[in-house]
Amino acid sequence: MRQMIMGNWKMHGLRGSGERLAREIAKGADPACVSRDLVIAPPFTLLSSLAPLLSPHGIGLAAQDCHEDPDGAHTGDIAAPMLADLGVSHVILGHSERRQNHHESSALICRKVEAAQKSGLIPVLCVGETEADKAADRVEDVLGRQIEESLPRGFSGIVAYEPVWAIGTGQAATEQDISDRMAFLHAAIARHLETDDKATRILYGGSVKPEDAASILAVPGVGGVLVGGASLTAESFLGIARAGLKPAY
Ligand code: PGA
Repeated sequence: MRQMIMGNWKMHGLRGSGERLAREIAKGADPACVSRDLVIAPPFTLLSSLAPLLSPHGIGLAAQDCHEDPDGAHTGDIAAPMLADLGVSHVILGHSERRQNHHESSALICRKVEAAQKSGLIPVLCVGETEADKAADRVEDVLGRQIEESLPRGFSGIVAYEPVWAIGTGQAATEQDISDRMAFLHAAIARHLETDDKATRILYGGSVKPEDAASILAVPGVGGVLVGGASLTAESFLGIARAGLKPAY
């Protein structure tokens, strides 16, 4: 299975800076990263201007959220069909910043996943434990519940394991921790969906940097990385995209 390198720009980027960054990534990506799937998740406001810059280079375009309904009286929200209409390929759902700052429950996220799939988008469903969960030794309980409650039965998409304590802290999880969580999540997903182990791609996210990307990508069970801060310059994002690859040119 190809590995995915996904950049989550969060709430960063105006038209000038966002288009410039997308152009730099597109220019640098072709020869170096051919064997990996690259996807960029800019803010909603940049989706339509980035679509024509990225798609000729085979780079996917993701949104960072969507509403669970296809339309309706929901001031300020964006529906999945609207994203598909712009050429969006993926949508990040259940990111811990949405779960925490917008009080999104796993039940709501599950409905968003279904809405995304109905519109032909690939959901990237985020799960992860907090520092308190880790301290209380309930990591597997929390992850197991998030999988059961956020993944609809007919799930066909990507899962991202993002320990909340690793996001934006500069402190990625250890390779051993990532390996253990991947084994647990692959088994939990397979049980929940009644599919083969490893049928679902799982990304790791949380303070991924170019210098540690190769070792994270080499951890068994890791199907790619979801990158926040280090996706905001072309140099570091492409550094991660190239990590561990033999030069293709
Ligand atoms: P980070 O963010 O790489 O800045 O830790 C990851 C994420 O939130 O997806």
